[in-house]
Amino acid sequence: MTHHTPTPAHTVQPVQEHVAAFAPATVANLGVGFDIFGMALEAPGDIVRAAFRERPGVVLEDITGDGGRLPRTPGRNTACVAAQIVLERLGAAGGVSLRLEKGLPLASGLGSSAASAAAAAVAVNALFGAPLGPDDLLPACIEAEASVSGRHADNVAPALWGGIVLVIGTDPCTIHPLPVPTGLHLALVTPDVAVPTSHARAVLPARVSMHDMVRQTALVAALVHALHSDDLNLLAELVEQDPIVTPARATLIPGFEQARDAARTAGALGVLISGSGPTLCALCADAETAAAAARAFQATYDTLGLSSVSFTTRPGLSGARVIA
Ligand code: HSE
Repeated sequence: MTHHTPTPAHTVQPVQEHVAAFAPATVANLGVGFDIFGMALEAPGDIVRAAFRERPGVVLEDITGDGGRLPRTPGRNTACVAAQIVLERLGAAGGVSLRLEKGLPLASGLGSSAASAAAAAVAVNALFGAPLGPDDLLPACIEAEASVSGRHADNVAPALWGGIVLVIGTDPCTIHPLPVPTGLHLALVTPDVAVPTSHARAVLPARVSMHDMVRQTALVAALVHALHSDDLNLLAELVEQDPIVTPARATLIPGFEQARDAARTAGALGVLISGSGPTLCALCADAETAAAAARAFQATYDTLGLSSVSFTTRPGLSGARVIA
């Protein structure tokens, strides 16, 4: 699917006064697919409540759940940036005010900025009768993401589509939904250490060797094969083999190796860094194993004296959606 942006032929009127939309957390990269794979989670996620207002532009009424840490300036908030671009694409008559309820921790590698952008884009579109599809909302979300954490679509695309997606490019951006393995359960842990995406991108090597390029290409191809053949064991084996990005970022995550080994000992099939970290994500074959892996993650960080939040969930098959 390649996105296209319709040129508004007329001013679009609101069809309702208020809309709330939810967008899920996302696990980007899947280990070997830096900037090209992303997976939506069932939970947690962000909620954006949008209300129509006569005056053009975007007003940010309130943010809750962020501990006061997110910028309140609309131009620096991804929900507002995405909302403004969607208003322009719609050719909307008037503007919106937004309330953002953060369900996601910030700078955790769970696609926090992407979830806010996707929820805002879907909410604003729905206010005006939802004339735009995900292909049309995607550029607005990519632009919003670029304004805070670099131009990549592997969080915003699964936040919009749900499931697991392959992303090619950002401008233009092509999305290929991929199959989600049957029975995949997830355990995640976020140690209490902030790793801003911009910093986690700055530590990456500027060049890679031909040897690593060939290996990475084979791993990416094998991962797509694993998904299409519903082979969870192969998938889990592959996500741990990234020779380029994971080794560079592991140093930013305290207790990375201990936590990974503990989850494996508890039965997890494989462990990867979620997006730019520090959240770790364990792939498991059932709910009981995921719960055991989450406990093992938690116990590791308790032992290290570093507070952390662990939880279990499943891949989210639905992307951003209207909830009220
Ligand atoms: N692909 C991006 C990165 C995702 O790893 O930097 C950020 O969540």
